[in-house]
Amino acid sequence: MKVDGTAYRTIWLNADGWSVNIIDQTKLPHEFVVARLTNLDEAAHAISAMLVRGAPLVGATAAYGMCLAVREDPSDAGVAKASDILFATRPTAVNLRWALDVMGDRLAAVKPESRAAVAYTCAAEICDDDVQTCSSIGDHGLGLIRGAWKKRGKPETVNVLTHCNAGWLATVDWGTALSPVYKAHDAGLPVHVWVDETRPRNQGASLSAWELGRHGVPHTVIADNVGGHLMQHGMVDLCIVGTDRTTGTGDVCNKIGTYLKALAARDNNVPFYVALPHSTIDWTLENGVVEIPIEQRDATEVTEIAGRAADGSVTTVRLTPDGSQAANYAFDVTPRRLVTGLITERGVCEASRDGLVGLYPERR
Ligand code: MRU
Repeated sequence: MKVDGTAYRTIWLNADGWSVNIIDQTKLPHEFVVARLTNLDEAAHAISAMLVRGAPLVGATAAYGMCLAVREDPSDAGVAKASDILFATRPTAVNLRWALDVMGDRLAAVKPESRAAVAYTCAAEICDDDVQTCSSIGDHGLGLIRGAWKKRGKPETVNVLTHCNAGWLATVDWGTALSPVYKAHDAGLPVHVWVDETRPRNQGASLSAWELGRHGVPHTVIADNVGGHLMQHGMVDLCIVGTDRTTGTGDVCNKIGTYLKALAARDNNVPFYVALPHSTIDWTLENGVVEIPIEQRDATEVTEIAGRAADGSVTTVRLTPDGSQAANYAFDVTPRRLVTGLITERGVCEASRDGLVGLYPERR
């Protein structure tokens, strides 16, 4: 997508042909900063400190982390160690494991001296595949937005509610949940997005709002507690969110607070869709609530908040009394019964084993 007229992906090879450029998302929305990754540790740090985040981009960054590692140590032991280090960066998004498995299989098939070249080829393929996949998710989701718009009655605006950031910043390009929104906007549909701020790290307020604004999509940032009220008053036509891991049975793990939005949507008969690429499906799991590990992050993400001060400087302030404890569960699981449908690169399906296997028959 474009930033001030220039087309960007979220991750790309530096002009030197080996180091890796990323957009440092911890600096958005106040500064647009490109950071350069030159070794395994920097790649692992970029994921764990959330310079990059969002399930597909975490996977893509891990793939390039393997490239940087293999450049320095292409031995079997070096590959295994790098994979372990990257795998430990964040526990919830299954795209991380998927990308490391793809890289590991490709590297195991060749001799150490060929591994660096193979790694860079494979990482580039993972990124290109993600762009194609997310674009297709957008094409399939566009039909749902168009349907909601027709139901509302032209020429009224169609209102989509989203949570966290599942836009192009969370993927290599296009996004998952926001890809249908971009396709709808580009097709001339009058689409407006309610953007949950998404405490504690505010990926909605800082990232979704930023990227929607850069693309010219009308949007309104709301506090996390507002969605239920809007749904009660007919101000949300459909919800579309992303996911970090969806079980082969259709349970959806996503940013904390997603479950509450799904409950409110069900109570108000608002369709609740989840957009995801194939790499986010964990076919090994049956019950997401029980089986998906939920990342707990540093309590300071809850007790403190960062923003731009009146003098233009970006500063962090404390919100809570000294001594109060804080808990920081980063994800929750929305059971499949609350999900209207899954939007994938192969089409839209019911959130169930049958629905997913219908789209991915090779998993039968
Ligand atoms: O903690 P984050 O910012 O990595 O969480 C991201 C989300 O929860 C997204 O909604 C999810 O990864 C889907 S991104 C396409």
